[in-house]
Amino acid sequence: MRLRPPPRAVPLPLLAGCLLACCLSCTGGDRAGGPDAGAPGVGDRLFPDAGNGGYHVGHYTLDLDYDPASGRLRGTATLTATADQDLSRFDLDLAGLDVRRVTVDGTKARTSRAGTELRISPAHPPRRGAHFTTTVEYQGVPRLLTDPDGSHEGWFRTDDGALALGEPVGSMAWFPGDDYPSDKAAYDITVTVPHNLTAVSNGELLTTRPASGGRTAYHWRSAAPMATYLATVAIGHFDVTRSTTPDGLPLYVAVDPRSDDAETAATLARIPEILRWEEGLFGPYPFASAGAIVDHLPRGRVGYALEAQNRPVFPGDGPPPAVDPVTLVHELSHQWFGDSVTPAAWQDMWLNEGFATLTEWLWQEHEGGPSLDASAADAFADSANWAFPPASPPDAAAVSAAPVYGRGALVLYELRRTLGASAFDRLLKAWPAAHRHGNASTADFTAFCARFTSRDLRPLFATWLYGAERPAHL
Ligand code: TRP
Ligand code: ZN
Repeated sequence: MRLRPPPRAVPLPLLAGCLLACCLSCTGGDRAGGPDAGAPGVGDRLFPDAGNGGYHVGHYTLDLDYDPASGRLRGTATLTATADQDLSRFDLDLAGLDVRRVTVDGTKARTSRAGTELRISPAHPPRRGAHFTTTVEYQGVPRLLTDPDGSHEGWFRTDDGALALGEPVGSMAWFPGDDYPSDKAAYDITVTVPHNLTAVSNGELLTTRPASGGRTAYHWRSAAPMATYLATVAIGHFDVTRSTTPDGLPLYVAVDPRSDDAETAATLARIPEILRWEEGLFGPYPFASAGAIVDHLPRGRVGYALEAQNRPVFPGDGPPPAVDPVTLVHELSHQWFGDSVTPAAWQDMWLNEGFATLTEWLWQEHEGGPSLDASAADAFADSANWAFPPASPPDAAAVSAAPVYGRGALVLYELRRTLGASAFDRLLKAWPAAHRHGNASTADFTAFCARFTSRDLRPLFATWLYGAERPAHL
């Protein structure tokens, strides 16, 4: 569901910062780094600082220790990466926190900080093609970040612990990394917390063991590749339900006791049914486990649900219930569209939200609610959906504005009308299969669609995906 605060204009200092960062990345890093310095950002049109150039990460080991009383996090991040070029220097993204020590392949490295860039100069620069290991020891009270649209992400303190949410660039608030959707990696996340609390994350819970000082360490593993923005950790009191779907998929559902009302429980009990229905539409569920996290945060602090990998997060920040079936259907559909098939760049995010919104429409029809045609007609009539073409948000503040959702879904609806329901149904399964555990761009998608028809789809995309104006009629 789109439950975000109203979009705000981008503040000027932020725009200036983006322009500056863009210039730096165009010239391949600043002079101090030398010719082999990895770029400080990948040059995303909307978030130019996000991610880094020169390497890609294969695996993150995050060993985290959290003290809810002080809000302090102590972490050691170990990244194994491959150099895409000779690397005299490279950056990790990290917002705030004190970096105590960095090593590259076991040798202490020089570092400096510049904004959200942690610059690392290895004693022995990795050569192009080399695999190298970086460890970062860090600590501090992680930040809550404010996005260009005024919404919050990063690290939320709750009254019994904390919650990490990372879309689009919030993972850098709690671990150093290559914070960009196209650099997906496997993760081992171990969180040590006071023994009366639980730490929930992505993937599967491998071990729960006692740690020093009467604490408990929870070790979660995501073997499937995951984008940084989908990594989460929720620390606090949780009612945990572990079960297995009739199809054999392990579920781990964690609900904050204060949000654990009957309606929320009844909705979450539908996860197996919803996943089976979505598998019927999109093909096999892409991950080794599923579930949900419902956390309690003071009203208005988050304002949106997030499709964290394996385990979407529903902040229960208002009167009950914290989650309704349509929102659950939306977030679970993202496991295929977003989590498994991840946008290549932030402007491709309509591929996430367009499919997730279409899934809501299909679910409502399936449930005897409004028909697909009625939902499409509503979206067509809503002027908010026509503010810009879905793959061209004008700026970072518009990354999750209405056209990305509603008009994104209308592109797919029109495609269904043009291809016919049976070809469209085949496409709904073939697209997630073709890019399973990978990335895809808008151009990848439009090229892929051509396989499902002999008709020329260019006019359809010109009007519905790229056109500036709302067409005369649906
Ligand atoms: N992806 C979320 C959803 O629709 C919404 C969201 C949360 C979001 N944070 C965001 C979208 C940041 C874009 C950017 O379920
Ligand atoms: Zn969504």
